[in-house]
Amino acid sequence: MTPVSTTRRLEHVISSEQFDRESLDDIFARADALAGHRDTRLAGLIMATLFYEPSTRTRLSFESAMLRLGGAVVGTEAAREFSSVIKGETLEDTIRMVSSYADVIVLRHDQAGAAARAAAVASVPVVNAGDGPGEHPTQALLDLYTIRCERGSADGVHIAFCGDLRFGRTVHSLVQLLSLHPGVRMSFVAPEVVQVGADLQARLAAAGVPFLLTDRLDDVISSVDVVYQTRVQKERFTDLTDFEAARRAIRIDAEVMRKLPQKAIVMHPLPRVDEIATEVDSDPRAAYFRQARNGVAVRMAVLDLLLG
Ligand code: ASP
Ligand code: CP
Repeated sequence: MTPVSTTRRLEHVISSEQFDRESLDDIFARADALAGHRDTRLAGLIMATLFYEPSTRTRLSFESAMLRLGGAVVGTEAAREFSSVIKGETLEDTIRMVSSYADVIVLRHDQAGAAARAAAVASVPVVNAGDGPGEHPTQALLDLYTIRCERGSADGVHIAFCGDLRFGRTVHSLVQLLSLHPGVRMSFVAPEVVQVGADLQARLAAAGVPFLLTDRLDDVISSVDVVYQTRVQKERFTDLTDFEAARRAIRIDAEVMRKLPQKAIVMHPLPRVDEIATEVDSDPRAAYFRQARNGVAVRMAVLDLLLG
């Protein structure tokens, strides 16, 4: 994937690997300027949201972002049932069609690589809003933006990724963005059945990013700056005994919060099931709802970069 640079327009958003520090700074400066703002810079343009998997935050925050910039929205939220996919139409043909109805396509799909397939046939920009267990790059942008807002900078942070690191696409995308930051350390806290894949470990080793694997949060909790908890992705398991082995392995509750440094934060891409106890929500270090709110400004910045 060609890296994005600020001197070039962003064509598609498929993978976190597209971004460098300069392009991230550009997106976050735009997000800062657009937060809480409304104007008509995208008036006359149409965004299509094509979602083959459920979503609350990604679809609605993209739609809100487009409307706040004066654009219009069309879409289907259960594309597998409510579009002509049910008649046997391929993803490629669907994308060719939607390209002539909209100026940008935001696609969520259950197969890794679907967004890249869509981009290959689209005549308008495609945004990957999650492709199966692959990536979720705009989530990673809002996650990194949140770390910057909450802590000033992501440089030098020690982050503990917890939960489902095998199927958790938000983790795959955020690891890549954080590895662009000097001094970052990563701990991957998960039972073996959902530990982070060998490919990601090899990429971190090649990039010289220090990391450790453990199945005990207690090994790292007192030294972390960010806990990034995730849901065990039940829908991705073919063997439910693996799912049972993974669920509830790592849970954040009041007892864990007592061991977490006072300046640390807890993040989660949401939705949460029971991997963060609701008693944690009132702790000022619980950043996950603030994180989700940042999605609107960051997605406004992405749409501005794609279409503005
Ligand atoms: N909402 C995020 C995603 O779509 C995380 C999750 O579903 O657990 O990847
Ligand atoms: N974080 C996230 O992608 O949420 P949704 O699945 O609700 O879009």
